[in-house]
Amino acid sequence: MRILLVGGGGREHAIGEALVRGGAELYVVSGHRNPGLARLAKDYGLARETDVEKVLSYAKKFGIDMAFIGPEAPLRRGIVDVLEENDIPAVGPNREAAKLETDKAFARAFMERHDIPGRKIFRVFDDVSEMRAWIDDFGKPVVVKPIGLTGGKGVKVVGYQLMDNEEAKAYAEELIRKDGRVLIEERTDGVEFTFQVFTDGKRVIPMPLAQDYPHAYEDDRGPITGGMGSYSCSNGLLPFVTKEDYERAFETLKATVEAMRKEGTPYKGILYGQFMLSKEGPVLIEYNARFGDPEAMNVLPLLKTPLMEIAEGIVDGNLRKAEFESKATVVKYLAPKGYPTKPVKGVRVEVDEGAIAGTGARLYYASIDEDFTLLGSRAIAVVGIAGSLDKAERIAESAVSHIRGELFYRRDVGTRESVEKRIRLMKELGREFEPNSW
Ligand code: GLY
Repeated sequence: MRILLVGGGGREHAIGEALVRGGAELYVVSGHRNPGLARLAKDYGLARETDVEKVLSYAKKFGIDMAFIGPEAPLRRGIVDVLEENDIPAVGPNREAAKLETDKAFARAFMERHDIPGRKIFRVFDDVSEMRAWIDDFGKPVVVKPIGLTGGKGVKVVGYQLMDNEEAKAYAEELIRKDGRVLIEERTDGVEFTFQVFTDGKRVIPMPLAQDYPHAYEDDRGPITGGMGSYSCSNGLLPFVTKEDYERAFETLKATVEAMRKEGTPYKGILYGQFMLSKEGPVLIEYNARFGDPEAMNVLPLLKTPLMEIAEGIVDGNLRKAEFESKATVVKYLAPKGYPTKPVKGVRVEVDEGAIAGTGARLYYASIDEDFTLLGSRAIAVVGIAGSLDKAERIAESAVSHIRGELFYRRDVGTRESVEKRIRLMKELGREFEPNSW
């Protein structure tokens, strides 16, 4: 079967590898030639992933049977709708359903309409004085969010990127003036985790939980990035997420899929819930309409069910199962020095692929060209996979030492110390629980 993968990051390299492992003949369209995908693909088209017409004509030219959409930006453009109108089924939600990610005001109102568990207090404002008065009345720390996609970089939280509610009001005013609207939410304290599921619009099949490290620098400092690494544990949970928390978060995702179906906009593809585990339990921070990057690299190498079978199940409305190996994983991303604010670009890096293979780690390429030139975003990921998190972390760490160039990474992703810090944070919030072993 000829599969067209749209996107060229680390997430897409992992998707492409899983598709080929499942028997796909792979075709790729992305903005640059990812060296890993270029080796897997039968043909590689260069185009902006949001250029829906170009993607469609590429798909027609190569007689594509099914498409798999990696990033969110083409979903917002309605790429799935256009492909389907041309009889090319696609893994990913159509434009209306993708609003769960692409329109944060829609997502919050939808949750409220359907009484979906894991909600937050929120308001959407288009009027500056109403927004200011509401924040004053509310009194507690808030989160200010642009309504649309910002690559995870536009959200600002009081106590982190914003000093106090005064700064929040100023930022919210800026957004109203720029975008016409802004979303204000209550701040939820806790530890974040990622819950990804496959769905055909009815059935919802969970993947192992993962935890992302969004800050650029060690000890969770520095600017927010797309994610500098992530880990998952062999039991599919996280050390600080109990089975009961897991079930509650799963309930949120299942209720979401059910409510989307009832609204007449069935959601199919991958649904990713970004949750905050608060003192009271899991709260949905946001929906994403695709795999996480890096979190795709935690789950896809563990997939025992061929991704092709899952993809066909999603598009046919006949999704049956997705089984994963019971192993821990640690992803470490190497990014150009200066990322995310002033990344080094245009310089070459050296990757000793043979030595990395010798460590047992997986290697995924992202924002790097076929000649190994850095393009400015997260460039290369290594993934350690083992029976325990400690071992997986050591494997990832040894792989990093075989990559040279103007890059940096977070040594602390998946380390015992950083996991213990997260457990401590939950206990300090007043949660009583016995950490799962990892
Ligand atoms: N790792 C965060 C994201 O994929 O949105």
